[in-house]
Amino acid sequence: MNLPSYAYFEGKIVPYSEARVGVLTHAFNYGTGVIGGIRGYWNAEKSTLFIFRPIDHFRRFIQSSRLLCMDLGHTPESLLDVTLQLLREENYQEDIYIRPLAYKADEGIGVRLHNLRDAVSICALPFERYVSNDTNAHLTVSSWRRVDDNAIPARGKVSGAYVNSSIVKTEAHHSGFDEALVLNQDGHVSEGSAENVFIVRDGVLITPPVTDNILEGITRRSVIQLARDELGLQVLERSIDRTELYICDELFLTGTAAQVTIATRIDYRPIGNGMIGPVSSRLRQLYDDVLRGRNPKYAQWNVAVQAEG
Ligand SMILES: Cc1ncc(COP(=O)(O)O)c(C=O)c1O
Repeated sequence: MNLPSYAYFEGKIVPYSEARVGVLTHAFNYGTGVIGGIRGYWNAEKSTLFIFRPIDHFRRFIQSSRLLCMDLGHTPESLLDVTLQLLREENYQEDIYIRPLAYKADEGIGVRLHNLRDAVSICALPFERYVSNDTNAHLTVSSWRRVDDNAIPARGKVSGAYVNSSIVKTEAHHSGFDEALVLNQDGHVSEGSAENVFIVRDGVLITPPVTDNILEGITRRSVIQLARDELGLQVLERSIDRTELYICDELFLTGTAAQVTIATRIDYRPIGNGMIGPVSSRLRQLYDDVLRGRNPKYAQWNVAVQAEG
């Protein structure tokens, strides 16, 4: 993996090699950090790097930090300013992933959220495809369960909760699947290890509600809007039973990293007729056009990294 040249760290932009924490750092030991995940897309025709919905991402980042009793001293706008400065230094001319991190920065022993210093870092690095088989993915239903809102809230991107995602992902990988879906404690479908999930049944697009232990995905929100406004589809946010995964017509995952990842098999069964379905492929195309700045109607979702001055 290509590492960044710079990082925003302790209030300023420094060489990446200087953005270091001690092994006793609270977040490193206890998982008391929150992350963001934002993509930037290089538009060769316009010679411009565009960041996708950064204000929405930073708004969720600050909400996540509040779950861990953090006060970052930042607004979504000030975090975007820092990110733009960082990206001007990096001068990337390719697709990238931006990783904001807020963390409990004190070094020492003691499980708690209070009386600890909060710190923010931001890095950006070149990034391409996340799920290697993103058009014909074979999914499984994980034997693990999703973290619960009353344990570690899935609606926050809490670093420690990614142990749950990592266990799910590695089990799927070792069993030969591309990705896994995780059930809630009550047996309803929540999401993938790092993606929200949608199914199509009889022309209706269905996705679990935000009260089913999901991350409130920015891609999920974008895809719901595109489905309603561009395809005129009915979209339902309701709980999904496990067996609906086996009888639905189409299934796809959404996420900043995974974009629209289409699955055609689940637990060795074909999804629908086992081919890529029309709703999945049209939504994927629409979303890609928006990300790449090819759809002027949604231009306000893309923020350009301009030279300063
Ligand atoms: C657990 C989980 N669910 C869903 C998503 C998708 O969210 P978004 O579309 O905001 O990237 C992510 C992305 O990071 C995730 O980690």
